[in-house]
Amino acid sequence: MKKHEIPTPALVVDLAAMQRNIERMAAYYATGPCKLRPHFKAHKTPEIARRQLAAGSCTGLTCATIGEAEVVAREGLTGDILIANEVLGAGKADRVARLCAVADIKVAVDSDAGLDDIARAAAAAGVEISVLIDVGVGLPRCGIAPGGPAMALARRVAATAGVRLCGLMGYEGHVVGIEGRDERAARAATAMERLLSTARMLREAGLPCPIVSGGGTGTYDITGRMEGITEVQAGSYVLMDTAYARLGLPFELAFSVLGTVLSRPRPEQCAADNGHKACSQDHGNPSVKGIEGASVLFLSDEHATIALPPDCDLGPGDGIELWPSHIDPTINLHDMLYAVEGDDVVGVWPIAARGYPEQREAVGAEARAL
Ligand SMILES: Cc1ncc(COP(=O)(O)O)c(C=O)c1O
Repeated sequence: MKKHEIPTPALVVDLAAMQRNIERMAAYYATGPCKLRPHFKAHKTPEIARRQLAAGSCTGLTCATIGEAEVVAREGLTGDILIANEVLGAGKADRVARLCAVADIKVAVDSDAGLDDIARAAAAAGVEISVLIDVGVGLPRCGIAPGGPAMALARRVAATAGVRLCGLMGYEGHVVGIEGRDERAARAATAMERLLSTARMLREAGLPCPIVSGGGTGTYDITGRMEGITEVQAGSYVLMDTAYARLGLPFELAFSVLGTVLSRPRPEQCAADNGHKACSQDHGNPSVKGIEGASVLFLSDEHATIALPPDCDLGPGDGIELWPSHIDPTINLHDMLYAVEGDDVVGVWPIAARGYPEQREAVGAEARAL
């Protein structure tokens, strides 16, 4: 199959560029004590996860949801999966407990209620669930306050049957996208010192803390070089997006949303079929790949309206590629990735964990049961 034969809109991966990203990151973590735990949520694609693990320097995989972890485990990638998120909500802790029977699973906890639910599910399933305390390091999202509150929760975990304390995590998501490296480094240091000082407190109190996990693509070489951080949860680096490209990191834009020009009503403008149902916009408009002076004016459901230089000879039926501003939600809109080398399609990979995989599985059975 050739690239121009791909039905659009579609996600296209530049295989060579992706592989270079994977190898650069693996080479970086091959030196130094800190390792990589690639975040699966960025691509949700088992084939890419397999390539990341094969490149080495990894402790395991990071997932954002139990649904992702279930897909990863079903694909046989059962070695070491961290769900770097709280798993509260109907049925989730029980699904984690079930998964423990077939995979090495760790989950984040930041509340007594979360701990109680996991301990209950572990007891019901007769398994032990490994737990990291999720510490708030400055991102206004999840995470218990560092220091005393995190210590108190860690003591409870250590004293609770059915759960095993494995350490701490904290995600400095409020700094990973800061463009200036000096400011990003300074603010990451402040954030992660909250995690590291809490880790020291745990150890001084005789509590186990072998894992101290955090970091993202924007801080891979900042957090990843702080003494005491044992692993970094970077995900976006593998395919990248234009928001991260602004930071000047050594990773290449390796995926695009391929569309077909539907109309060129004016010399300075065209409309293509890669609108916002194919390409996320939460970090701003995508960029146009490979056409000097072209830019996206706006996206609508099924259309991208694109400003073109009048001398550009693109016409109805031609292909046009957009570079998304945010990888994760763009990936989540599609069912598969086309891996290309030049003009050849060399792989078609299911984005097996897109959306909510558990809904796809449940929909038939639950609709029948109601
Ligand atoms: C918990 C957690 N860890 C790590 C990451 C790192 O991802 P990225 O590589 O996109 O910076 C994220 C991204 O949102 C995250 O939520």
